[in-house]
Amino acid sequence: MKVLVVGGGGREHALCWKIAQSKKVSKIYCAPGNGGTKEIAENIDIGAEDIDGLLDFALKEKIDLTVVGPEAPLVMGIVDRFEEKGLKIFGVNKEAAQLEGSKAYAKAFMEKYNIPTAQYRRYTDKEEAIKALDDFNYPLVIKADGLCAGKGVVICHTKEEGIDVVNYMMADRAFGSAGERIIIEEFLEGIEMSLLCFVSKGKIIPMESAKDYKQIFEKDEGPNTGGVGCFSPNNLFNKELENRIGEEILSRIETGLVKENIDYSGVLFIGLMITKDGPKVLEFNVRFGDPETEVLMPRLKSDIMDIFEKTMDGSLTKEDLVWSEKKCLTVVATSKGYPGAYEKGKEITGLDLLDDDIILFHNGTIEKEGRLYTNGGRVISVTALGSTLEEAREKIYKNINRIRFDGIYFRRDIGKIKNN
Ligand SMILES: Nc1ncnc2c1ncn2[C@@H]1O[C@H](COP(=O)(O)OP(=O)(O)O)[C@@H](O)[C@H]1O
Ligand SMILES: [Mg+2]
Repeated sequence: MKVLVVGGGGREHALCWKIAQSKKVSKIYCAPGNGGTKEIAENIDIGAEDIDGLLDFALKEKIDLTVVGPEAPLVMGIVDRFEEKGLKIFGVNKEAAQLEGSKAYAKAFMEKYNIPTAQYRRYTDKEEAIKALDDFNYPLVIKADGLCAGKGVVICHTKEEGIDVVNYMMADRAFGSAGERIIIEEFLEGIEMSLLCFVSKGKIIPMESAKDYKQIFEKDEGPNTGGVGCFSPNNLFNKELENRIGEEILSRIETGLVKENIDYSGVLFIGLMITKDGPKVLEFNVRFGDPETEVLMPRLKSDIMDIFEKTMDGSLTKEDLVWSEKKCLTVVATSKGYPGAYEKGKEITGLDLLDDDIILFHNGTIEKEGRLYTNGGRVISVTALGSTLEEAREKIYKNINRIRFDGIYFRRDIGKIKNN
């Protein structure tokens, strides 16, 4: 089979890496890909949001399966466009993608189907939103409705901060039309957890658990990033919590999908806050997580092509997902300045010095004339499996120091956690 992977980050590299292990696959293309995908796939110079370009390419090359990494093309309706032309594609359709594409839509869905989540109100009028800032306790959370590449959520500690954020989103239109509608919601205290699931024609099948590290500095300090480290499994996810999430969240989502007539096939990534009153949903994402995918793919023993096919035809069961008992950890090396402004184009060296049991996933690299350069804020994910988390940790930190580029930074405390 010929497979096209859409996207160009660490998630897409991990997907290409796993797809390449399938005996069913003869050729992988990645659009646009990066310096890492280039080693196992043919990079195609078409952007992940250029749906016409991708469609033309898939038709011309007779692609047997397209796998979509990022949310933007899903929200734009890439799946519907491919299916109209009779092409097979793994990802959710445009209607289902609203669960990520509009936070107001997702909150209304949760409210209607009694899925535990933070109390909230939605606003389309700036003055009304500012007036409402008197009615909430602080801190509170303000969220732009649409896709904002992880920058559309602000926790406000005072009314003054809240006014600034409302103005920034609604009057200055910092996120364009994504901020025309906003959500103001209750701040939830607890421990965050993400749960990725395959959804096979409306039936939810959870993957193994993972824990990601969002903040740039050690001890979870500093600004939020796309994620700078991750491990799987997450010890927080015990049987009791699993049952509770199953009953109070997953089964209610399944009911909601049926009642709303949403034909959901693909991945559902549920952002959770485990509060003292139980698990509550922070948000839905409709695709694989990054960096979660980088620690889940190495632990997945099953052929991912079988999983994609069964998910799409509605036959996937829990037994189809076979996981390694090993722990997997990844540490993301980033460019100096990330998640703020950073420079690209620094030469990366030392990758040839890494031990054989290190798995490298490139997040933001580009290859030019045989040399590798940085091409993003997140640059490269150094990943390892181990019988224990500590063993995987040791492998990674022994090797990551061999990688060199100007301004390299990484957290030294990934996976160093008391309850794991
Ligand atoms: N109601 C809330 N209470 C506390 N923290 C929140 C709340 N909503 C969001 N957050 C924090 O903000 C982060 C980003 O919010 P999220 O809803 O996941 O949006 P996005 O990933 O689209 O930026 C979450 O990972 C969490 O740390
Ligand atoms: Mg999130």
